[in-house]
Amino acid sequence: MKILAIETSCDDTAIAIIEANGGLKKPSFKVLSSQTHSQIELHAKWQGVVPFLAKREHSINLVPLLEASLEKAGLLKTAAKEKTLPGELHKILEKEPELLKNMELLLPEIEIPKIDAIAVTYGPGLEPALWVGVNMARALSLCWKKPIVPVNHMEGHALSSLLAEKKTRGIKFPSIALLVSGGHTELVLMKDWMKYKILGSTRDDAAGEAFDKVARILGLTYPGGPKISKLAETFDIKNSTGIKFPRPMINSDDFDFSFSGLKTSVLYKAKELAELTDELKKEFAFEFEQAVIDTLVSKTKKAINKFKAKSLVIGGGVSANKKLRVSLTEMIKKDLADTELLIPESSLSVDNAVMIGIAGYFRAQKKKPVFSLPLIKRIKAEGNLLLK
Ligand code: KG4
Ligand code: ZN
Repeated sequence: MKILAIETSCDDTAIAIIEANGGLKKPSFKVLSSQTHSQIELHAKWQGVVPFLAKREHSINLVPLLEASLEKAGLLKTAAKEKTLPGELHKILEKEPELLKNMELLLPEIEIPKIDAIAVTYGPGLEPALWVGVNMARALSLCWKKPIVPVNHMEGHALSSLLAEKKTRGIKFPSIALLVSGGHTELVLMKDWMKYKILGSTRDDAAGEAFDKVARILGLTYPGGPKISKLAETFDIKNSTGIKFPRPMINSDDFDFSFSGLKTSVLYKAKELAELTDELKKEFAFEFEQAVIDTLVSKTKKAINKFKAKSLVIGGGVSANKKLRVSLTEMIKKDLADTELLIPESSLSVDNAVMIGIAGYFRAQKKKPVFSLPLIKRIKAEGNLLLK
């Protein structure tokens, strides 16, 4: 089946079209198109994502991305005769005037594309941002009479490593998923497809959030993860002044995390020093990154051992971190050689719509999606949606 996927949970507007086959026995995926519009520049000057700005940007950019995606996938056909749009469209998009205007320009001009379902992220994330994607899905569903599959963003991250170099991999169960993003840090037990149990999560800041906050202390712009990682790579251990940061909860009996204390230690250490020289900033970045990685690797290893996991999957923006990837690979090779490690391509680690299409396909196997007006009315954004 062909799935059009929409992702707007944070500061990336993304649309993808994938072709999926094989059911739960042998799922396989092909990306027909994948488009992302990043809002980094817009939010960088505010040092973080501003929800109402994110919402407006999604609203402006979704239709151009839709058009580009359909075109790339070979599904954009000019309509033989101008189409009239259902009157209810105005009601669905009353809070997204830019989106409504763009939809009214594009949809009458094109044929209904040959897709089977529309997958959309409905949570977790920033609610004003999520609503734009959800309302776009509702509007398209109404105009094209195509079913909607609501998708949990974290399920998308958990399944993003299935695609590797254009091939589809399987997951050996039970599997442990380490999901590390800007809003979440979770260790999840996957007993089978779509059977999730959250083993532990962060009690305060998410790993990505800690990267972003520490970046600010070091004078780096949002998003901080990639910048800290780059700066840390330039640190020469021979120049170490002996700075060390804590690894909070690394030895606790559970699978929870806490990164807010680590960020505070970085802040206090920075204040203690008369001047944060460029060399010291490198050391801070290196030591902070190491503290996060040590904690993530140690807890992940404990979870794999306890649940005798046959595989480890990782996902979320922080899983793009090179050193984390290397550290997990080394840990598996050294101590858990029977466990298979699945790492997503870097472009699928951060937010994207391909992973939403993949998760949508699995959900469609559980419950056949059908076009339904009541569902269009019922589906809503859920900022705090849990993975289950
Ligand atoms: O999954 P994602 O794109 O969006 C959310 O769902 O939150 O994750 C974004 C987070 C940001 O906090 C960003 O700083 C972090 O992922 N990130 C990284 C790296 N690339 C992105 N953190 C560490 N190292 C990286 N290379
Ligand atoms: Zn994400």
